[in-house]
Amino acid sequence: KRIFMNKAARYEDLLREIRGLIAGVKDPLANYANTAAAIYHTFPDINWAGFYFFKDGKLVLGPFQGRPACVFISAGKGVCGTAAETKTTLVVEDVLDFPGHIACDARSRSEIVVPLMRNRKVSAVLDIDSPMKSYFDRTDKKYLEAIVSLLETTSS
Ligand code: SME
Repeated sequence: KRIFMNKAARYEDLLREIRGLIAGVKDPLANYANTAAAIYHTFPDINWAGFYFFKDGKLVLGPFQGRPACVFISAGKGVCGTAAETKTTLVVEDVLDFPGHIACDARSRSEIVVPLMRNRKVSAVLDIDSPMKSYFDRTDKKYLEAIVSLLETTSS
């Protein structure tokens, strides 16, 4: 059934699924882990979905689905570090054109990174990669920001 659904419809299902998964769960790590898994298994055209936590001035690998990834990313480096530093969602159509892109998985071709804020500071980023060029658009931005908002309001 799912292959006939458009992206927005899949995201609506995904939002409902994540709301259900995190409802009443007060452990943020568990919620990040289930969120990464739910996102990864919703879209066949992504090869990595997960979180980096902002700790001691750098990003550290958190729960994810996909191939093993770089453990540390310096603030301001790569797509993740830039999104964390600028506190804005970054949509990269072609990672080969992004100066300083960090290739953890050589298959990744486009990427979206959404910062997650706690107490007005970036506490993590949600990073999703696709092997397709220009896979992510404003629909992904809108829904992934909504997912991140859900996580921001779960207690820590
Ligand atoms: N491409 C990212 C690094 C993280 S991985 O691809 C999972 C970046 O440039 O920040």
